[in-house]
Amino acid sequence: MSSGSQAIDTNAMTLIRYVMAEQKKFPGATGDLTALLNSILTACKAVSSAVRKAGIAKIFGIAGQTNIQGEEVKKLDVLANDLFINMLKSSFTTCLLISEENEQSIEVETDKRGKYIVCFDPLDGSSNIDCLVSIGSIFAIYRKTSTGPPVEQDGLQSGRNIVAAGYALYGSATMVVLSTGNGVNGFMLDPAIGEFILTDPNMTVKPRGKIYSINEGYSSLWDKAVTEYVRRKKYPQSGKPYGARYIGSMVADVHRTLKYGGIFMYPATKDSPNGKLRLLYECNPMAYLIEQAGGIASTGKIPVLDVVPEKIHQRSPIFLGSREDVEEILDLYKQYE
Ligand code: AHM
Ligand code: MG
Repeated sequence: MSSGSQAIDTNAMTLIRYVMAEQKKFPGATGDLTALLNSILTACKAVSSAVRKAGIAKIFGIAGQTNIQGEEVKKLDVLANDLFINMLKSSFTTCLLISEENEQSIEVETDKRGKYIVCFDPLDGSSNIDCLVSIGSIFAIYRKTSTGPPVEQDGLQSGRNIVAAGYALYGSATMVVLSTGNGVNGFMLDPAIGEFILTDPNMTVKPRGKIYSINEGYSSLWDKAVTEYVRRKKYPQSGKPYGARYIGSMVADVHRTLKYGGIFMYPATKDSPNGKLRLLYECNPMAYLIEQAGGIASTGKIPVLDVVPEKIHQRSPIFLGSREDVEEILDLYKQYE
């Protein structure tokens, strides 16, 4: 190097640049989706900074407590939710917001309304927040299809209507994985410039993996298909057993599945006949990404994206990942029906 300058990519593909280029392909595009995604990225950057405990004194503490400066402090999940809601509303592109943190859907004020509906989990993996294990944000974007003011019913669309979906993973690095319906791309946050840079173009999930991922503590509550499936992974008739990995943060478990292949499962149990994970802002966005990456996401009976929701916080069992791995459990479901 002659001038002593840093190796900086002077033509980096940022996430927004990528989305703008994608939108250009649609002659009628208004730029609203770009503006909407930009507002989500701002929220993700702020959450990422808070997760890394930047500005420790301002965020340390329990919801409703005061910090050492005597200011009100917010717990990370409350902070993440406020960030998402404020950024989304002020993008002037949304009309209805459905958050894991809010019992009811949020109607955007008339003067800020746009055509999009966003379902999101602002900070997923709550049990991992305090021990600094990876957590994430998940979102799915829909168009409002009815006329008239936005109502909760507008958010009850099947995952097949998703316009774009993605997640931010706050792991050893911060990454956003996004699909706007044309494959899946991964963008790493470069903290030096505060931009998400395309690092994982065209992500695909391999046809078969070597990892199964499930909370095995609940094995006494599983149905026959899941019990038999996991037994086969541990005691295969030929070849090596699968490895087990379970982080307990859906974003991290799904990201690993996308990168390394294998299967992630959150099945129904005797106690929870619909499993634990929520359809609108956990299962659907992940199912959309996995299908876009060439994998499968199923409830055990039908593709997750085909479920027509009845309630905004409804749950669904989920099996997602490598095509052949998921097909194997689906075959067992057919057998044990
Ligand atoms: P949360 O929304 O309260 O954070 O719960 C969702 C999380 C997912 O990230 C994860 O896949 C699952 O709960 C783990 O649940 P369990 O502890 O039952 O295995
Ligand atoms: Mg959650």
